Amino acid sequence: MTNPIIDEFVERARTAAASDTSTSAIRELLKGSLSESDAMADAIASLEDDEVMVFEDETCSIWTCRYDSDVVLAPHEHCMSVHIAVYRGAEVEVLYKREPGRLKHGGNKLVSAGEVVSLGPDAIHAITADGSGQSHAIHIYEGPLTEVKRSLFDWNSGEEVDFTMENFHAMRRLKSNMKEFQ
Ligand SMILES: [Fe+2]
Repeated sequence: MTNPIIDEFVERARTAAASDTSTSAIRELLKGSLSESDAMADAIASLEDDEVMVFEDETCSIWTCRYDSDVVLAPHEHCMSVHIAVYRGAEVEVLYKREPGRLKHGGNKLVSAGEVVSLGPDAIHAITADGSGQSHAIHIYEGPLTEVKRSLFDWNSGEEVDFTMENFHAMRRLKSNMKEFQ
């Protein structure tokens, strides 16, 4: 299902996540992996699905992520910090804050190939790619992402919606219809 490059990365990420200084160790690992961006991007491109959980335990969850530039996946929380390295293309973090009765757009954060960014445990983002091709990235969450109860948020009202993969994909929007990209 995965490949040797991903497997080796996962081993190193597990060590980083288990260390006493896990946040900085994970970020350093991701920054170091940028020197192998082509190999990492090729490995991510070789996987069958756009989003693959390649490892999860109590200390971390590791996902490979390819996003399309024409659709935007729905706003959601992680309830834990996440560290993102982009190896090819560019990801766009569409940031939001919850306010009474609405989601307030807080700007778009472009994460280009060769960059690492972190989002805190309170972050709410929708996600897409910039440009024309898919983005290729690894996301490392500082905990067991699939084990926590977390929410999607209605684009307009900000109401919580159970996070399921079905809801996540059903709520996606076309970028061309979104005021956040005008
Ligand atoms: Fe996310």
